[in-house]
Amino acid sequence: MDYKRLGHTDERVPDIGIGTWKIPNDSKAAIDVIQYGIDDGATLVDTAEMYANEELIGKAIRGKDVFIATKVSPNHFRHDDVIKACNASIKRLGVKSIDLYQLHWPNHNVPIKETMSAMEALMNDGKIRHIGVSNFSISEMLDAQDALKSAEIASNQVEYSIFSREIEQEVLPFCQRSHISVIAYSPLARGKLSQEGSGAVFDTLENIAAKHSKSVAQIALNYLISEDNVIAIPKASSIEHMKDNINASGWKLSKADREEISNTSGERPSPLAGPTLQKLLKNTSFWAALMEKAEKRRKEKRQK
Ligand SMILES: NC(=O)c1ccc[n+]([C@@H]2O[C@H](COP(=O)([O-])OP(=O)(O)OC[C@H]3O[C@@H](n4cnc5c(N)ncnc54)[C@H](OP(=O)(O)O)[C@@H]3O)[C@@H](O)[C@H]2O)c1
Repeated sequence: MDYKRLGHTDERVPDIGIGTWKIPNDSKAAIDVIQYGIDDGATLVDTAEMYANEELIGKAIRGKDVFIATKVSPNHFRHDDVIKACNASIKRLGVKSIDLYQLHWPNHNVPIKETMSAMEALMNDGKIRHIGVSNFSISEMLDAQDALKSAEIASNQVEYSIFSREIEQEVLPFCQRSHISVIAYSPLARGKLSQEGSGAVFDTLENIAAKHSKSVAQIALNYLISEDNVIAIPKASSIEHMKDNINASGWKLSKADREEISNTSGERPSPLAGPTLQKLLKNTSFWAALMEKAEKRRKEKRQK
């Protein structure tokens, strides 16, 4: 298993973690699969209060050395609701603190400053170790970072797979430049990849997989984690799938293979090509000011 640094933190996380959406709270079989994954190196486990399975995840991770990530739902973004939701997740998971607490989706009905002040209070109380966001655009990430007094956004969890490469336009290059980890969700296109007949992309993946004695899923996952700053969290219901996914880490597709996949699955957008990012880079004052502030804070922390 290869490890990557989480955002600006000193934390190192595996580049293949474990997704748990749609795993029922009473699935005993899922506990075995998750524990197999953790023991085999996939020590980052991702859940959410919305998945209604935190008790099961708590059972699966008990006594294990894991990095637990969960999410607060947008309907709980008011200050006191964030605190309540976090305490409830901690209880259900049976942990002392949450390693990565993520805002599940943006909610423009609640000022981000209010939500982030609760997130920082949780951090100061030792209830959460790192703050992440999910499904955030660049401007939403900027607003979220600006709303934080001293913490830094460690990650943005967004959809990213061979069939869903939109983030390569703007969000991914922005996160890479800003050292915000990208946690790729639905990295196997929610199972679409395992269905035969997905056309040219599937044929390309199959050819490359055969050439390297890998599975199609492994090629698809490796394509994502070959990118700097990207980790992926596939969900697996069987030990066979879990094992397969974990073995997507620890090696790297060649540039030629990556290009072939990229060209078949749609023209790869040139880095920094998207209109929002271009606009932002032309008028860098806001972005530069945020980066400067962040660098200052990091320096201060290092000096302490
Ligand atoms: N932040 C968000 O808004 C958000 C949204 C969606 C998902 N997520 C997170 O991302 C995680 C992963 O995404 P996802 O669950 O949507 O879908 P996914 O991981 O892209 O795909 C899961 C599907 O792929 C199959 N699969 C897994 N490993 C395989 C392998 N090696 N070979 C062939 N098929 C394989 C699974 O089958 P089996 O189940 O039969 O193994 C399942 O049908 C979620 O569980 C959740 O933690 C976050």
